[in-house]
Amino acid sequence: MQTFGKYIIKETESQHAEQLEILQSVVFPTLAKEELISKEQYINHIKVFPEGQLVVLDGDIVICGSTTMRANFSEKQHTFLEATDNLWINNHNPIGEWMYGIDVSVHPSFQRQGIGGAVYRYRQETARKLNCKGQITVGMTNGFINYSKEMIIEEYCQLLIDDKIKDPTVSAQRKCGFRIIKPLYNYLEDPKCGNAGMLMYWPLDEKLILL
Ligand SMILES: CC(C)(COP(=O)(O)OP(=O)(O)OC[C@H]1O[C@@H](n2cnc3c(N)ncnc32)[C@H](O)[C@@H]1OP(=O)(O)O)[C@@H](O)C(=O)NCCC(=O)NCCS
Repeated sequence: MQTFGKYIIKETESQHAEQLEILQSVVFPTLAKEELISKEQYINHIKVFPEGQLVVLDGDIVICGSTTMRANFSEKQHTFLEATDNLWINNHNPIGEWMYGIDVSVHPSFQRQGIGGAVYRYRQETARKLNCKGQITVGMTNGFINYSKEMIIEEYCQLLIDDKIKDPTVSAQRKCGFRIIKPLYNYLEDPKCGNAGMLMYWPLDEKLILL
């Protein structure tokens, strides 16, 4: 457990699952319904990998959720549902080298206040305690919606790689410490991000280069 201003960051408990399920549809209104984490799935995550599940609380209110599992690194094309065993994470590998970030969802009224950054740092400390190599994630290219009339998703991702535009999710994750590996197209189903995500890693050892 850790405090962040007046908020508390702690491991998720089953009593938070219902609020987390509601938070999913608030934070990801355009994501395909089968790609939103359900209450039952959250409860399973706690059983499978309790150290990897976090909430940020404002009193009793869940204002952010974070879901991870352990996995070995693979640069192979994969989808969100394939990587996460359809969101149940029963494929969590207890000796996996990396913490694979499935989700950070900060309630829109609480975004850009440092909460996401605090959660990514908390995860990095968990990765250290578990002797993992760091974090892997696939950041949704959520800013694509603002450019979708001008370019295709492949062009948008290239501009992001070249650091010529900012994306509300990928740029925030980069600021936190993540490095881009490559885009994954058709990673999930959400028109806002052109169905894509950016495969990224944040190693504990700054000198570790993936690819
Ligand atoms: C992406 C998200 C997790 C970031 O959390 P947050 O609490 O809003 O971000 P923070 O306030 O902690 O900001 C972290 C860093 O990113 C930067 N940042 C935040 N939002 C940004 C944006 N829209 N554009 C550019 N940079 C941004 C901040 O300036 C900060 O950098 P700094 O530490 O150098 O100042 C959060 O906005 C969110 O839940 N978004 C919607 C869901 C989502 O996309 N989740 C991730 C799925 S892969």
